[in-house]
Amino acid sequence: MQDSNPNNRYTITAALPYTNGAVHIGHLAGVYVPADIYSRYLRGINKDVLFVCGSDEHGVPITLRAKKEGITPQQVVDKYHKIIKDSFNEFGISFDNYSRTSAKVHYDTASQFFKKLYENGKFIEETNQQLYDEEAKQFLADRFVIGTCPKCGNEESYGDQCEKCGTSHNATDLINPKSAITGNIPTLKETKHWYLPLNEYESWLREWIVEGHKKDWKTNVLGQVKSWLDDGLRPRAVTRDLDWGIPVPVKGAEGKVLYVWFDAPIGYISSTKEWAEKNNKDWEPYWKDKNTKLIHFIGKDNIVFHSIIFPAMLKAEGSYILPANVPANEFLNLEGNKISTSKNWAVWLHEYLQDFPDKQDVLRYVLTANAPETKDNDFTWKDFQARNNNELVAVLGNFINRVVVLTNKYYSGIVPNPTNLTDIDEQVLEALKFAPKKIGKSIERYRFREALNEMMQVARLGNKYLADEEPWKKVKTDAERTKTIMYVALQIATALSVLTEPFLPFTAKKLQKILNIDTDLSWEDVQKKAVLLPENHQIGQAELLFSKIEDTEIEKQIAKLEATKKENETEKKEVPPQKETISFDDFTKLDMRIGTILEAEKVPKTKKLLKLLVDVGVDKRTIVSGIAESFKPEDIIGQKVTVLINLEPRKIKGIESQGMILMSDTKDGKLTFIEPENDKTQNGTFVS
Ligand code: MF3
Ligand code: ZN
Repeated sequence: MQDSNPNNRYTITAALPYTNGAVHIGHLAGVYVPADIYSRYLRGINKDVLFVCGSDEHGVPITLRAKKEGITPQQVVDKYHKIIKDSFNEFGISFDNYSRTSAKVHYDTASQFFKKLYENGKFIEETNQQLYDEEAKQFLADRFVIGTCPKCGNEESYGDQCEKCGTSHNATDLINPKSAITGNIPTLKETKHWYLPLNEYESWLREWIVEGHKKDWKTNVLGQVKSWLDDGLRPRAVTRDLDWGIPVPVKGAEGKVLYVWFDAPIGYISSTKEWAEKNNKDWEPYWKDKNTKLIHFIGKDNIVFHSIIFPAMLKAEGSYILPANVPANEFLNLEGNKISTSKNWAVWLHEYLQDFPDKQDVLRYVLTANAPETKDNDFTWKDFQARNNNELVAVLGNFINRVVVLTNKYYSGIVPNPTNLTDIDEQVLEALKFAPKKIGKSIERYRFREALNEMMQVARLGNKYLADEEPWKKVKTDAERTKTIMYVALQIATALSVLTEPFLPFTAKKLQKILNIDTDLSWEDVQKKAVLLPENHQIGQAELLFSKIEDTEIEKQIAKLEATKKENETEKKEVPPQKETISFDDFTKLDMRIGTILEAEKVPKTKKLLKLLVDVGVDKRTIVSGIAESFKPEDIIGQKVTVLINLEPRKIKGIESQGMILMSDTKDGKLTFIEPENDKTQNGTFVS
């Protein structure tokens, strides 16, 4: 794999996912699928590629999750590390190494990194006032504190970053801060921390990015970078008062840990070291050789960390290369709403696989076709179905199937000899040779949707060729011509087994098996070789690459989301706090009985009131009840109810009400009766 040409080395990173939950389609679309396409493509053109990732196991989200689930942070990360790693594996994300930031190699690497900066005087040491939660006895940084973003006014900004406008700030910048643990208003308390003086890197950053990369970095990334630089950078604390994280490796820092955004990106380096150790390789060229291209694939909420803070750290350290590019995607929404882990508004990869166990490539395809490359985009199940049925099945699958079925039918699966190539044949084969360049160019510019479309054009070309040439007709009249047509079609199919690989790796494998190809064809072969699949080669039997997705399967997914929506709506209602306590005597004074509604009618000129006649066992009495918006009078005759019968009689709209029907609120704001489970419960039975 190692290439002697130093310009061939790529270190590709994908953001380390927080280990506080599983991964969903937003992760895949934003970061991991594009990074994987890029890596697979570069391997396909014989570059020396190292693609690394790992679990980001520190930081406040993990401790909050642990609190919520009633387990330790370690248990949280152990649980999700496995789920996340398995999901990536199952979707064919071809990491050369997937590590975790709790690994020893990472503790060592991150500590050394900090120490070096510390010893070289790259930090400012400062004691000042930080937000503190007296009740939780804890400093509040990052996601432990929520308040109003000073930049955009978002009232739910976190201490370190506003998810609305992307601004990264210090917790003390928040307006009206509130503890995320207790809801209390924080006090201020003195504490010492180490700061990276980002302000000192400002002009260097401007020159390096704004001047140096204005042509090759994506506009969404450049836009954010410029806006931060224009606002002016300030020193940024790289340590925290927390008990979950990597201990700050210097004296006088007991009880403090590295800020998660300080240690996590160093995780890319640790993961590289882990890979090198396992494979008996040297890790350093991948991070220190000037000819290595370092590429960070991230989501837009990570831009500041990868284009400003981490580069400043690398620069301060001095011996590392800087990223050649930081291709960040925008966000993927789901059925029109923002994907949210806490609201369970997501398609979780492990759940998707339960419902679509062999459709990894379908999801990869749809997420690439719809990737939020330049703006936020929407995933819908209808679109998922349409792209599967109309594109994968009808275009790519159909082409391959026709070629393979006909070759088996006419020639027992043996690639026929071509005779005279017509102009059309030549044109088709020429177009095929251009395809790798076209697709590759788009991938190299991080335009994966465009690249995918170029790849599908090859399958479209194949379909058009077959439709125009009609081998199924010519086979009856012109055996020689038919052989040539099938030969050309088989070359297209073979090219597709190479060109689909970065996007649809499982399909590419299957296709190679169907075509019985065991040599490793490269992108260069497709570009240069006149013959990809030689005559007399024996191909295998037809096998469907894709299958139609039925309406019922899609309806099931939509119903699942509807149910989530409903659940969220009811959860939104806050349970009001308990009322003042009462004595047992107070309670025993209440006389509550089971009764039956005998008559019901609306109280004229009111919206809410019904006049009821209720048999409460001791007697039959009139009760005025505010339930008219929830029930029609005729529907509640015979209804069993619970009645407070010794409530002082009261005149309501001129009618004396002699008691009160006990009701409960339902989710949708309507009322429901508190009734005995057993309809035969006798009227007058005590409720206590
Ligand atoms: N855990 C972060 C997130 O999910 C990403 C960390 S990327 C790294 O947003 F550079 F820090 F590794
Ligand atoms: Zn904001």
